[in-house]
Amino acid sequence: MPLPVRPVNDPRQYDDLADQWWDRSGAFAMLHWLAAERARQLPPATSSGAVLVDIACGAGLLAPHVEHLGYRHVGVDLGLPGLRLAADHGVLAVAGDALRLPLADGCADAVVAGEVLEHVRDPYAVVDEACRVLRPGGVLVLDSISATRWGRFTAITVAERLPGGPPHRLHDPELFVSPAGLTAAFARHGVTVRLHALLPDPVDYLRWLRDRTRPVRLRHLPGTSGLFGGSGYRRA
Ligand SMILES: C[S@@+](CC[C@H](N)C(=O)[O-])C[C@H]1O[C@@H](n2cnc3c(N)ncnc32)[C@H](O)[C@@H]1O
Repeated sequence: MPLPVRPVNDPRQYDDLADQWWDRSGAFAMLHWLAAERARQLPPATSSGAVLVDIACGAGLLAPHVEHLGYRHVGVDLGLPGLRLAADHGVLAVAGDALRLPLADGCADAVVAGEVLEHVRDPYAVVDEACRVLRPGGVLVLDSISATRWGRFTAITVAERLPGGPPHRLHDPELFVSPAGLTAAFARHGVTVRLHALLPDPVDYLRWLRDRTRPVRLRHLPGTSGLFGGSGYRRA
């Protein structure tokens, strides 16, 4: 059956594509590669019961990558089909808005905001919420897409046409974000974030095109003009 045509960036598109979430060779393949990359930025939990808050967790693709780190993985998202899949993968799944997280101040030892800032009207409200729930000394990991010509070209013109890249109409380039603006906003909350560009490894990607099995590593490059990611700690 054909999928409904939704407005650009309508989060219901994730519900329409729910059967794709956990298909590592399907429409959300790149989110699996990004999840692995995010997990590499996270330190192991330092106490039993340490909490990782995964803002806009989708279907919990981060779960298998953080299992060994010892966090209680709490995921918040608007999409109920995704949350059900996240729960199936061991995530404590909470329905809620990234702009008003239904979580207590300072409850998180780690906060992850992966591929969400470029999907909301007010990314700085998500920054405020991420920092509100992050305890002093806690770690923040994020990735997003830069509001530059290069960001639009790579994420829309190129990536939407490539296997593994995001489905068409999922991104509204008007919502792409300013890395410098984000860094400053985090700094105002005492979170020093270091950002770098992220690029799928070309050799891995060619191999993935051939066999669609082994994941593609994301390489760190200087700059932040396209897909970018980074991490930082909140001042203790
Ligand atoms: C690109 S997906 C990323 C999902 C997940 N972080 C990952 O990387 O696999 C964007 C997610 O943001 C969610 N989302 C969009 N706007 C949201 C909001 N205001 N509050 C919570 N989740 C939101 C969507 O439902 C979707 O699951």
